[in-house]
Amino acid sequence: MKRTNRWVLWSVVAVLALAWIASPALCAEKLKVGLVFSMTGGAAAYGASQKEGAQLAIDQINAAAGKGMQIEAVFEDDASVPQQGINVYNKLINGDKVAVIIGPTLSNTAKNTDPIAQKAGVPVLAVSNTAGGITEIGDYIFRDSLTEAVVIPNTVKVAKEKLGLKKVAVFYGNDDAFTKSGYDVFKKVLQEEGIQILSEQTFAKGDRDFSPQLTQIKAQNPDAIICSALVEEASGIVSQARQLGIPKTIPIIGGNGFNSPALMKNAGEAAEGVIVGASWNASATNPLNVKFVEDYTKKYNRAPDQFAAQAFTGVQIVYHAATAAKSVERKAIRDAMAKIKDMDTVLGSFGFTEGRDANHTPVVQEVKGGKFVVFGR
Ligand code: ALA
Repeated sequence: MKRTNRWVLWSVVAVLALAWIASPALCAEKLKVGLVFSMTGGAAAYGASQKEGAQLAIDQINAAAGKGMQIEAVFEDDASVPQQGINVYNKLINGDKVAVIIGPTLSNTAKNTDPIAQKAGVPVLAVSNTAGGITEIGDYIFRDSLTEAVVIPNTVKVAKEKLGLKKVAVFYGNDDAFTKSGYDVFKKVLQEEGIQILSEQTFAKGDRDFSPQLTQIKAQNPDAIICSALVEEASGIVSQARQLGIPKTIPIIGGNGFNSPALMKNAGEAAEGVIVGASWNASATNPLNVKFVEDYTKKYNRAPDQFAAQAFTGVQIVYHAATAAKSVERKAIRDAMAKIKDMDTVLGSFGFTEGRDANHTPVVQEVKGGKFVVFGR
C-alpha cells in the first residue's frame, strides 16, 4: 500500500474511532430482556396478548430512546408446560445472557423456572402469575400481577353484596398451582364471609367433559358457581353449565384465569353474566391507560386485555429500573426494581410491596355484550 493510501486509511479509522467514542448511539448499552410467554398449549390465549402488549412497549421505548438505552428483546415460548419453561430459562440465562426475564405466563411454570433464575442471580418480573408462593422463591423474583389473595376477597365481597350470595358450589382444577391457589383463597374467604359451600368438585387440566360435576351442582341449586380455572377449561365449564340448563340467574364467578376474551370467543352467549375478579379494566380513565388502549387498538385492531396491560407495564418497569440504575447489570436492575415507588403506569400508580408483589386496587368485572365491564369495586 502506498504511503498516502495508508495515511488516508488510518485517518478514516481514527475518525470512526472518535465518532464511536463520542456517539451515545454506538456507546449506549442495550438492555437485553428475555420474555417467556405461552405461545402454544393451553395458555396460548394469554401468551398472544402478553406478546402484543410487551412488543408495543418495546417499540415505544426504543422509538423514544433514540440514542439512549435500547431494549433488545428475546421472546421464547414456554408451551404452557414447566419443562419447556425450564429449557428456555436455561437458554436465556446461559446462552443469550439476558439481564432480566419477564414471564413465564403460568404460575405452574414459574414455580419450576424461577428458582433457576434466583440461583443464577437473574431478576424476574412476573406479569401474569397470581398464585401464592411465587415471590417467596427469592429476592430476585418480582411481579406486577395482583395475586388471587388480593383480588378474590374483593370479588367475593362485591358479589355477596350485589347478589346476596348465601350458598355456593365450588369447582376447581386440582392439578395446577394457580387454580389450586385460587381455590384455597376462595374457600377461606367464603368461610370468612359466612357463605355456605354446598359442594366442592374438581377437574384436571385438559378435561373436556364437565357434565358429571355440573349435573351434581345443578341438583344443589346454588346461588352461584365459584370456579377456579384457566381459560380453556373455564370456557368449557361455562358453555356446558348453560347447555345443561343451569340458568343465568346462577352466575359463574371466576378468578384471574377468566380474564381473557378467549372466554367470550369460546363460550359465546353462555359467557354473558360471568363475573370475574381482575386487576385492570379497559375503562380505567387514567391518561396512560387511555393512551395504551388507543395505541394497542390501533396497532393490533382489537382491544387489549388485562394480560396485555400487565405485560406492557412489565416492560416499562424493567426499563425504568435499568435507566434508574444506569446499568444493564443483573444485580443493579434487581436493586433498582426493588426501589420502584409511585411509578405512573397503565395499571395506576405502581410500586412493589416489601415482598416484591404488586399493590393496587382490584376490580370486579362482568361479561356484558361480549365485553368485560365493571361490575363493582
Ligand atoms: N394467573 C394465571 C397463573 O398465575 C395465568 O397461572
